[in-house]
Order: sequence, then C-alpha cells, then structure tokens
Amino acid sequence: MSSTRPDLRFSDAGDERSYYRKFAQLPPKDASTIRVMDHNNRDYFTVLDEDADMIADNIYKTRSVIKASNAHRYVTISPQVFYNTVLRFCLIENHLKVEVYHSKTFELVTMATPGNLESIANEYGINLESADFSSPMVAAVKFTPAKKIGVGLVDLSNSSIQLCEFEDNDLFSNLETLLLQLGVKEIIVPSNYDPHEETGDAVKLFQVLDRIGNIVVTSVKSSLFNKEVEHDLARIVEGENIELVLASKGINAIDFPLSLACCSALLHYLELSSGEFSIDKYNLSDYMKLDTSTTKALNIFPASNNYTKPNVSSIFDLLNKCKSSAGSRLLSQWLKQPLTSVSDITDRHELVELLVNDTSLRVFLTQDWLPRVPDVKRLLKKIANGVKKSSGNENKKLDDVVRLYQLVIVVPELLSMLNDNPLILKYWTEPIQKAHKSLIKFQELVETTIDLSPLDSSDLLHNDFNIKPEFDESLVKINNQLEATLSDIKQCQVDASDDLNLEVDKKLKLEKHQNHGWCFRVTRNDSNVLRNNSKYQQFQTVKAGTYFSTKELRTLALQYQKYSDEYNSKQRELIREILSISLTYSSVFMPFALTLAHIDVIVSFANSSVFAPTPYVRPIIHGLNDKESRTLKLKDARHPVLEVQDDINFIANDVAMSPGKQFSIITGPNMGGKSTYIRQVGVIALMNQIGCFVPAREGAELPVFDAILSRVGAGDSQLKGLSTFMIEMLETSSILATASANSLIIIDELGRGTSTYDGFGLAWAISEHIIKEKECFTLFATHFHELTQLADKYPSVQNLHVVAHVEQADDITLMYRVEPGVSDKSFGIHVAELVKFPAKIVNMAKRKADELGGDGKRSKCTPEEIQQGIEKLKGVLIKWREQCYDGSKCTTDPDTAISKLREMVQPINDDKYVHEIMSQL
Ligand SMILES: *[C@@H]1O[C@H](CO)[C@@H](O)[C@H](O)[C@H]1NC(C)=O
Ligand SMILES: *[C@@H]1O[C@H](CO)[C@@H](O)[C@H](O)[C@H]1NC(C)=O
Ligand SMILES: *[C@@H]1O[C@H](CO)[C@@H](O)[C@H](O)[C@H]1NC(C)=O
Ligand SMILES: *[C@@H]1O[C@H](CO)[C@@H](O)[C@H](O)[C@H]1NC(C)=O
Ligand SMILES: *[C@@H]1O[C@H](CO)[C@@H](O)[C@H](O)[C@H]1NC(C)=O
Ligand SMILES: *[C@@H]1O[C@H](CO)[C@@H](O)[C@H](O)[C@H]1NC(C)=O
Ligand SMILES: *[C@@H]1O[C@H](CO)[C@@H](O)[C@H](O)[C@H]1NC(C)=O
Repeated sequence: MSSTRPDLRFSDAGDERSYYRKFAQLPPKDASTIRVMDHNNRDYFTVLDEDADMIADNIYKTRSVIKASNAHRYVTISPQVFYNTVLRFCLIENHLKVEVYHSKTFELVTMATPGNLESIANEYGINLESADFSSPMVAAVKFTPAKKIGVGLVDLSNSSIQLCEFEDNDLFSNLETLLLQLGVKEIIVPSNYDPHEETGDAVKLFQVLDRIGNIVVTSVKSSLFNKEVEHDLARIVEGENIELVLASKGINAIDFPLSLACCSALLHYLELSSGEFSIDKYNLSDYMKLDTSTTKALNIFPASNNYTKPNVSSIFDLLNKCKSSAGSRLLSQWLKQPLTSVSDITDRHELVELLVNDTSLRVFLTQDWLPRVPDVKRLLKKIANGVKKSSGNENKKLDDVVRLYQLVIVVPELLSMLNDNPLILKYWTEPIQKAHKSLIKFQELVETTIDLSPLDSSDLLHNDFNIKPEFDESLVKINNQLEATLSDIKQCQVDASDDLNLEVDKKLKLEKHQNHGWCFRVTRNDSNVLRNNSKYQQFQTVKAGTYFSTKELRTLALQYQKYSDEYNSKQRELIREILSISLTYSSVFMPFALTLAHIDVIVSFANSSVFAPTPYVRPIIHGLNDKESRTLKLKDARHPVLEVQDDINFIANDVAMSPGKQFSIITGPNMGGKSTYIRQVGVIALMNQIGCFVPAREGAELPVFDAILSRVGAGDSQLKGLSTFMIEMLETSSILATASANSLIIIDELGRGTSTYDGFGLAWAISEHIIKEKECFTLFATHFHELTQLADKYPSVQNLHVVAHVEQADDITLMYRVEPGVSDKSFGIHVAELVKFPAKIVNMAKRKADELGGDGKRSKCTPEEIQQGIEKLKGVLIKWREQCYDGSKCTTDPDTAISKLREMVQPINDDKYVHEIMSQL
C-alpha cells in the first residue's frame, strides 16, 4: 500500500520551504480538527505532523507510512481512502472536524463538522451516512438564570430550522431529552459558558453534554446570540414575508427570544446567507422522553465505533428491515421520538396489523416495490449540485433525473396494489396520488427530452443518457449536419480505398482518433503503399498500424468536430435546463419520499413482527392519565434483541403491574436475569410507542408512558471525575425531577457506590419518594433484600424474585424465571432444589445458610467465574443424579446421597464459585 502513495514533490528547495511556511501560517487549530491538503485537485491528499501520526495509527495501523521532509512529517492518502475511510473515521466515528486546503493557494476548499457534512459530501460527491442513519444536526443553546432554555436547530440535509423554548429543572433534564430526541451531534454555545468554572449552570449544561457523549461543542462570541435575526432569516427561509411565515408557525419574538437568538448564532456559524429553509417550532412534549441512561440501557442504537459487534446488537438493528435509506432514516427518527398519543400509536398498530394480515401486499412491497425506491433526497442534492457546478461529464448528470423517472413510472403499480382501507387511504394512497398528479408532468418532461433507449440495454453503466435530438430544433439541425458530414467522410474512405487498392474496412479502416479526429488506419505492413505518395499525410505509427489522412478528410474531420462541439454545448445547455426544471419538483418529491419511507418502516415493523422467533403481538393500549385502566400485562414477554442471539438461552417471563400495584421490587441471585427482566419491560414499552408489535403473547396490555427513565449500571458511565455515588445521585435526581405519574422508571441497583448501610438507606428513601410522590410504574432490581419489606408498608409495592430453572432436554441449562414473592437467600440452595434434593436435605441446607446470616449471600465471584463454576457443578450434579435418583425418587438414603455428592464435588472444590456454594450447603 505504501509504495503506491506519492511523495510530495517540489520544483526546488525554496518551493518546499515555502510550502511548509505557508502551512505553518494557517490559523491555529486544536486536536479536534484534522487539516488536510488537497493536491492537484483530488489527485491525492496529505496530512501533516500530529495529524499524520493520528491517521497513520488509526487508518493504516502503522507508522511506516509516515514520510519525513523539512522537519515535518506527512502521510499521503489516496482519494479512495480519504473519501471512504478517513472522512468516516473522523466525522462519523470520532466526532472530529475536517478542513481541506488547496495545496498551492492554501485556501480553504471545504470543511466539515459532525453536524455539518453537507458541503464536504457535495464537494466530493460522497455519502456519509452514520451507522444509526440519523440526520446530522447542529444546535445552539442559550439559557437564562431562571432556567428558561432556548434551542435553535439546523438540519442541513433537509434544509430545516427548528426552534424550541422551554422551562427546565436544575439538572437540564429537558434539554437532555431534546438533544436525544433529535440526535444532535454538534452544539454551539456562547463563549461565556465556561466548562471549567467551579459552580454555576454552565457546568451542569456541560455535564449533560458529557453524559450524552459524542457531541462536539464549539464556543462562539456571545454577541452573536443577541442580534436581531429576522432580517437574516428572511434571506434563507422560503416565503415572501418572514414575519408572515413566522406568524403562521406561531413563532413570535416574545415567546421565542432565546431560540431566535440561537438561530442568529447558527446562521453565522454555518455561514448561511441564502437558501430555501423551512422553519418550525418543536414541542418537547409531543414525544416520549428518554434519558441517556435509558437510551443506553435499552440498546436502542448500536454502540458506535464497533464493527465486531453481533449482527443484531440493538433495537434499531432488529427492526431495520427497511429497503430504502429514507426508510432507515425515518426508523432512526421514530426510535428517538416515540409517540404519546393513543390515536397516533393506534394508527401505526393498525397499519402494521393490516400488513401482517395481508401477506400478498406485504410481500409485494417488501420484495417487488420498495427495493426499487432510490434515495430521493440524495438524488435531488446531486441534481442541485449539478446545476451549480459545470465540471465533469454533463451527460452523467441525467442519470439522477432518470432514476427519479424510474420511480415515478412504477407509482401506478403501487397504487393499484393498495386497498381502500381508510388508514391506507389517509397515510399512503391519498398523499401518493396527490404527488403523482404533479409527477406525471415530470415524467412527460423526461420522456420528451431524454433518449431513454439505454434503459433497454443491459449495459447501463457504459451508456450515457442523451438529450433526444428531435426535442430541440437547433439540435435537429446540427445533428443533420453531423450526419451529412459523416457520410462525406465515408465517401472519402471509399475513394482512398480505390486509389490505394485496399479493401474498405477490411484493410483501410476509418477511425475516430483521440487527437486527430476522423482518420484512416492501415497495418504497418500495408503502410508501404503510402510511401512517396504526397496525397496521404501520415500522423503516427504505433503497434496497431499507421494513422493517416488526406487533405479532404482533414477538412471534413475538423468540420465534424466543430458540429460535434456545437451539439455538445447545446446539449449541455439543455441538460442544465432539465436539471433545473427537475429541481422545481423537489417540493413534490420530498413529501412523496417521506410517504414512501413511512410505508417502508411500517412494512419493516410488520416483517419484524411476523418473522420474530415467536411472532410479536399487537398490544391493547391505555392512554395517559387514564388512571383507572392503566395496566401493564404481558404474558411470556421476551427481550427481542436477546432472543435472536444464537448463544443465549432465553426464558419468557410474565409482567403484571397496575395502578394499585405499580412498584415492583425484584430480588434474586446476582447474575440471575433481573437486569434483563426490567430492561425488557422498557424495550417493550418503547416498541409499543413507536407503533410496532411487541414480543409477548396475545392479550398484552400496555399503558402509554410519557417518559422512560433509568438508573442503570454505575460502571459504564462516562462522566469524568465524579464518583459512582455522585453519578448515581445525579441520575436519580434527574429521574425524580422529570418523572410524572405517567412515566416508567427502571432502576437497576442503587446504592452500590457507597457503604452497604448508606446504600440501603438511600434505596429505601428514593423508593418511598417514588411510591408516595410519583405513583408511577417502577421496576427496581436490587440486591438489598431488606427492601422487600416496603411491601408490608405500601400496598402498591409487589415483590418479585428470580428463580433459576433447569431446562433438561439434551443438555441441562440454567434459566431464570421471575416469580412473585421474595426470593430465598441462597443461590446454592436453589441449585440443590433444582436437582430435587429430598426436602430434608434442602431444609438442612437452608438452616445452614440462615445460620451464616448477615449480608454474606452476595457472591464474591465475577460473572465469568460464576458461569464456569456452574458449568462444572452442572456436570457433577447430572452424574450424581444418575447415581442416586430414579426420577425424583431417591434410590439411596439421603445421608449417603449427600456424602456422595460431597465426594463427587471434591475434585472441583478448588473452583472459587463451587467452593462458595458448597460452603453454604
Ligand atoms: C428534517 O429532518 C429532521 C430529522 O433530522 C426532522 O426532525 C424534521 O422534521 C425534518 N424537517 C422537514 C421539514 O422535513
Ligand atoms: C406542547 O404540547 C403540549 C401538549 O401537547 C401543550 O400543552 C403545550 O402547550 C405545547 N407547548 C408549546 C410551546 O406549544
Ligand atoms: C464490540 O462488541 C463486541 C461484542 O459485543 C464486544 O465484545 C467488544 O468489547 C466491543 N468493542 C468495543 C471497542 O466496544
Ligand atoms: C452475521 O452477518 C453475516 C453477514 O451478513 C453472516 O454471514 C453471519 O452468518 C451473521 N451471523 C449471525 C449470527 O447471524
Ligand atoms: C387481521 O386478522 C385478524 C384475524 O383474522 C382479524 O381479527 C383482524 O381484524 C385483522 N386486522 C385487520 C386490521 O384487518
Ligand atoms: C508483415 O510482414 C511480415 C514480413 O513480410 C510478415 O512476417 C508478417 O506476418 C506481416 N504481418 C501482418 C500482420 O500481415
Ligand atoms: C521514392 O522517391 C525517391 C526520390 O523521388 C526515390 O529515390 C525512392 O526510390 C522512391 N522510393 C520508393 C519506395 O518508391
């Protein structure tokens, strides 16, 4: 690889020095920016010094690619590697900024940030889709001391501006929700917000950003947040009169002062001075609230930067059976914005059910129709760029128009398959018919202007589309002239063949030479005849033969070239016109594409539901505030992501919660599936509210939640410099500040980050607070056995515990089932019960465990050690059972059985976990 990368070449040492001097004179940059030099207009790229080290380490995985020159280090990068690997690595996976400079002028060619990929993607004609298909967005944030927060958001990929203004608590929980709902990748803040100050609200803002992670933060001059923005907006927002546009969206300067100020900063930061942006306000409470902890705990999206992960590692992976990129993008958005309105959720469920029932429609859409849908948004972008830039092969630009045409001509086929169910009419048929009416005109435009014959050819790649000559009078005229000239040229060939006595085409060939235009060619042997013949002018002799011409042919060839140039220039003009006209259909194509994406996601939900290991079911749902009826009832519920993993045995569980019994405490062995159980309830609630069916048995009932809030796993938090205890406190306070009676709270171990005594007190106090003040559905998994006593005090509390079951088929595996009641204390005893010790032995063992007392039941082993121990123990138990039992009947006396067991366990008793269990028997 390294041998193919060019060295930097300079005409002389002065030139070389000047290059590095100019490089050093570029404005200062920090480590989060990668500076790239573009050589000879994309011939190759280089990075220097510390950027060279970074690229060598991460892209080439070796420093041997680094070259030294003039006290600098550099790495050259081929365009392929730059577009496909370096940009993705920097912008998508590692949230860096990229600047590209011209290697001669040192002018900035283009730049990109994680929230602004548009200009670099356009510059190099590349597609930078992230693994979760989210749209890149830039947000600006400003808040007042009273915690009124304004956010302005710009999505450059669909030219939209959104404004959001809301009250927040001390912890900025609502801001966190907003950033997660929109998947913001980049934020600008006023420069007076200091992340390093000791106290104050800015610190809390940065803590929120830290917690979410992977957000690039840039400070800009505070004064940019204050300008009057209407004048600037008027230039980039579509519509005649900006005041009217804002008024029609219910945006006024009194209610949106902060977010409008944010807008002004964004326009400046993104250097937006013209455009056709849409503007709207965003209402936080339109969607379910999810906090960072929940987003991670429910594995909604694949963890970033990991290409070795299992195929299905997240809900997004699981449900993304979409056939189009637009479908995947919409699914990504739906997963961040679960619905809260019963009627909206019901509509999606109903559509999914229609497709689950109607197999032929589902198969038609999945296999025949949706795979033909192109990325309309991207095609329109490419067409818009084609109009702006006149480089490259103009004819190739017609490809994108033809791709759109191919979509339009198959619309009637789709419409004919959609039935007249009222919801299909409302969501699909009617919007598509409306768009199709306009798109018919686009179809006619293409058919009358573009020669579509290459579509019939199998070799599409090598056939350019051309303007139909008959479309334009001047084209017809030039075309006639071209053809007349060509026939004169052919006559020349006949004349020369007579003269030289060489057979036409067989010996005397007529060819279009790259430099000489139309000319003759003979083999080198035959070229003898040309010697001493002044009529024929030889150009060039190569292996293939001798090229030559006559005076007459030269004149005709020049003429041909002239007409051909005229034709092409006229054609280019017409292509531009067609591109421009096609663009005027954007406002029809965009909503049309959104409708197709909607179909794609619903079909994907239906397919996911039908093809799950056990089909998903449509739940009955209960609205917000419907206090009496809000029950959560799931039979045989599964964790949908876990159940599709090959190497995990999964047991279905029941869930039953209701307004009078909404607080569940789950106890049980350390590794025993408590976490899975509580997360799976969250996952199912989320799947329900994006409109999908759920992994449970018929008769599932779910309340609609306004939020899912979690406190899960202290170990994996990214917050720097904070103790586990502080993180627990922060997250828990944030939950308490956000939760309403309509929320779902999931707590997986609380109070671990402190002493047992304090931890328990904390868990107890927080539980009481939730039970008394919030009255919302809560699942609390804990190792504090004593917490189960809450049930004695509060009727809304129910205790659940995890029981290990042995599934004995060909192999014995331990599975965990959640059952009502309080768990026995010792896991060792469970194992004994599982292999059906006689009651006497079990009782003895229980007494023994009780004698040990205290808090000594928690295993001191790691999960791996426990797993290993269990495997070993299982083997022994099976053998023991074979020797001492017939079915569940003991064939020896119990004392012999237990001493036999001890004897058999002896060889493995040095295993840490086996020892731990046996010591309790
Ligand atoms: C643009 O895309 C974002 C998602 O990134 C979405 O929230 C917004 O509604 C879209 N705007 C328009 C006008 O389609
Ligand atoms: C947002 O929606 C909620 C409920 O739909 C409504 O009560 C609230 O007034 C809305 N807020 C704004 C700023 O429109
Ligand atoms: C990637 O995912 C695999 C499987 O889930 C995991 O074992 C590995 O640790 C992950 N790697 C990183 C860098 O997160
Ligand atoms: C994961 O995907 C690859 C390629 O698509 C496939 O070969 C492999 O069998 C899949 N693995 C699992 C566990 O589904
Ligand atoms: C789907 O089929 C079931 C069972 O035949 C039927 O009860 C249900 O009404 C159908 N749903 C729709 C939306 O057609
Ligand atoms: C050209 O002439 C040489 C010698 O006369 C002969 O060996 C060769 O085969 C000829 N080549 C062709 C392509 O006729
Ligand atoms: C070409 O013409 C020159 C002078 O006119 C003569 O010397 C030579 O022999 C001729 N060659 C052939 C192949 O006829």
